[in-house]
Amino acid sequence: MLTAGISSLQFSAFRNYAQLQLELRASLIVIIGDNGVGKTNILEALSLLSPGKGLRSSKLSQMTTFDITPLPCWTVAANLKEDGFDTILGTGLEYTSSGSEKRRLKINGNIVRSQADFAEHLNVIWIVPAMARLFQESGSIRRKFVDRMAYAFDPTHTNRLHRYEHYLRERSTLLREGRGDSTWLASLEKNLAEDGIAIVHARAEVVRNVTEHQPTDSASPFPRFFAQMRGEVEEWCRHMTAVAAEEKLRLAFANNRTQDAHTGGSVFGPHRSDLFVKHLGKQIPAELCSTGEQKMLLIALTLAFTKVQMEQSNRVTLLLLDDVIAHLDSHYRHYLFQELCQMVEKGAKLQTWMTGTSLSDFVYLKQSAQYIRIKNTTLYDGYDDNDS
Ligand SMILES: Nc1ncnc2c1ncn2[C@@H]1O[C@H](COP(=O)(O)OP(=O)(O)OP(=O)(O)O)[C@@H](O)[C@H]1O
Ligand SMILES: [Mg+2]
Repeated sequence: MLTAGISSLQFSAFRNYAQLQLELRASLIVIIGDNGVGKTNILEALSLLSPGKGLRSSKLSQMTTFDITPLPCWTVAANLKEDGFDTILGTGLEYTSSGSEKRRLKINGNIVRSQADFAEHLNVIWIVPAMARLFQESGSIRRKFVDRMAYAFDPTHTNRLHRYEHYLRERSTLLREGRGDSTWLASLEKNLAEDGIAIVHARAEVVRNVTEHQPTDSASPFPRFFAQMRGEVEEWCRHMTAVAAEEKLRLAFANNRTQDAHTGGSVFGPHRSDLFVKHLGKQIPAELCSTGEQKMLLIALTLAFTKVQMEQSNRVTLLLLDDVIAHLDSHYRHYLFQELCQMVEKGAKLQTWMTGTSLSDFVYLKQSAQYIRIKNTTLYDGYDDNDS
């Protein structure tokens, strides 16, 4: 039974779906189908019900079904069920009068301007195959991973990040063009310092919480980890009050104008921070772990996050696990399934969507999950023994 999550989902002209309509009635959704049938596309549509560019970070126009002429604008709408209330979240591509593409956002039919408004209702987090390299990639990917967790506790985190990036770009332009209007620069730097320290605090808080909420029971096969946000500003914040750190960051911006004018960006700030993760069993940093160990660390982090979310936040979480289950040994798989079921039984507002190519990987969930099987773009609802 579904107590909190998406109870219906509709798309038009989205990726390989000219139209799609799904009715959901469970907290665990399993999507099964051969390669290329459109499983990830469904998860991508769900990921667009949160701030950002979705789980593929694609251009908006790339998501429109490309074989329909004239090219329509894609739309995705979902009914979110929570505590007996329904909220309709809608998003889609639209073009501004100047022809640039933007995302239309609607809640209960009313246009909303900020993506943070979506985050007030729903938090979406995902593990996708591309994230297998999370610990090898540049710091920006890890920052995005942490920021997505931070939205869950403070939807205004997304506004702060947008503002910070906007001010940073504006300062870079002024410095590059040599328009050294010091009052304007000083005001930008004050705003940057204010938002910058708030961003550092929000990230540090969520990562600390996640570290503290990892499973401690000996039954967990997932690795224990230590996680921490690291960077120069993080270091200041560990020893200073927020007000003192803000002033130090403001001064750092002011004192580095000449250098920043040459390099673009800024030497200091939360855009330089990184997520450090250590595998406690091995006592080595995540980037030195094997591919399999890194995947397990990522799942362990995500599971811990859903636990914090369950205890501390009131919003519904969608957990999207794209092609994750098939790569787990059966004891990892069963533990993960058990944890997800138990969290929902204990009242977590959590709906998990999992994809795979083989029904047999999900047979353990036969009693609790809703199965959606896709064959040649036709969707079938329900488990079918003939498919396993
Ligand atoms: N804009 C688009 N218009 C039409 N089709 C598209 C568009 N973008 C992607 N596709 C197609 O959608 C199909 C399904 O993609 P998707 O990634 O969802 O498959 P999948 O079921 O997750 O496959 P796999 O098991 O290999 O991960 C692909 O064949 C892809 O080419
Ligand atoms: Mg896929």
